[in-house]
Amino acid sequence: MVHKVKGVVARSKGAPVTLETILVPEPGPGEALVDIITSGVCHTDLHYKLGGISDDFPFLLGHEATGVVSAVGPDVTDVAPGDRVVLNWRAVCGNCRACNRGQAQYCFNTHNATQKMTLEDGTELSAALGIGAFIEKTLVAAGQCTKVDPDADAAAIGLLGCGVMAGLGAAINTGGVKRGDTVAVIGCGGVGVAAIAGAALAGATTIIAVDIDAKKLDRAKGLGATHTVDSSATDPVEKIRELTGGFGADVVIDAVGRPETYKQAFYARDLAGTVVLVGVPTPEMTLELPLLDVFGRGGSLKSSWYGDCLPSRDFPMLISLYKQGKLDLDAFVTERITIDQVEEAFEKMHSGSVLRSVVEL
Ligand SMILES: NC(=O)c1ccc[n+]([C@@H]2O[C@H](COP(=O)([O-])OP(=O)(O)OC[C@H]3O[C@@H](n4cnc5c(N)ncnc54)[C@H](O)[C@@H]3O)[C@@H](O)[C@H]2O)c1
Ligand SMILES: [Zn+2]
Ligand SMILES: [Zn+2]
Repeated sequence: MVHKVKGVVARSKGAPVTLETILVPEPGPGEALVDIITSGVCHTDLHYKLGGISDDFPFLLGHEATGVVSAVGPDVTDVAPGDRVVLNWRAVCGNCRACNRGQAQYCFNTHNATQKMTLEDGTELSAALGIGAFIEKTLVAAGQCTKVDPDADAAAIGLLGCGVMAGLGAAINTGGVKRGDTVAVIGCGGVGVAAIAGAALAGATTIIAVDIDAKKLDRAKGLGATHTVDSSATDPVEKIRELTGGFGADVVIDAVGRPETYKQAFYARDLAGTVVLVGVPTPEMTLELPLLDVFGRGGSLKSSWYGDCLPSRDFPMLISLYKQGKLDLDAFVTERITIDQVEEAFEKMHSGSVLRSVVEL
């Protein structure tokens, strides 16, 4: 049986998204069908719509989602109908060279559904990040379903599926922030403030938020920043050094991803400290640094893919901390919207007042 449901599609580069009837097949081997409850609107969805990720239009957008499994393929045993799940884009394969070395967080062969969802005329859809969650029912690889506590707000925990996990993980997993560390985060959008929350959770004692927008800095304070620096008015490298006894921070996270912010991160870090790049640069960007400084400052320069998360390890743990009141995921949910308001949510992204609009299905 094929399911006919409504979903949000980007048909061509830059065109406004449309609500379309979509055909979703029954799950085959290794697949699961999921009834979506909530799905956050992420910048990556906007990038897909604008053609910034690939030209494989039409796209089925949405990927930060909580849902309930409604059916599974014949060989699927890890999840079952009725399970509450948060969807992930790191369904690890278990046998690539990263997985074989016990480094599944870098898995080079992650799984997506094999069958395609289509428009009514049979046109195959490309699902955003292999998920496609602005839809009543979606088809994913079973490994993309991380079973979670059903007794937690779907809108809040679904955000762990992408941007919030990327930020939390940039601090906790990639940066390895520890109790007593000094941390600076450059760029306080959704990913940056999640990195701030992650640093706070890990016990950092000094957490410096840097942004060029004062509104962002105010919000960062609410999520654990101990100091803020408006880098449109103040040299962030000098200020971060001043706030850390003249030395620089142990871990500096670049959640913007531009050569100038990376350089700030590089020089605002203490000797032997760590730089984490979690913001995504564009293809034309290049970086020039004195090689002697790269050597002489020591430490490590790391990049963080999806917060180096392992969904099965990290989502349930973070949801537990959320339920205990130690991680404020509610703060990321600015508004709840309906499936026909995704285009408006994209427009609001420019205003900077919204961390996440979350579609309730
Ligand atoms: N590595 C990953 O797996 C991963 C996952 C999700 C998102 N991302 C990336 O993380 C980045 C941030 O995402 P977001 O959702 O928080 O975006 P966002 O647009 O909400 O936030 C970016 C913030 O950076 C600030 N900013 C811009 N230029 C700046 C500068 N020169 N100095 C200081 N601050 C500056 C903006 O004011 C804004 O607050 C993006 O590049 C996104 O693609 C990476
Ligand atoms: Zn693998
Ligand atoms: Zn995302």
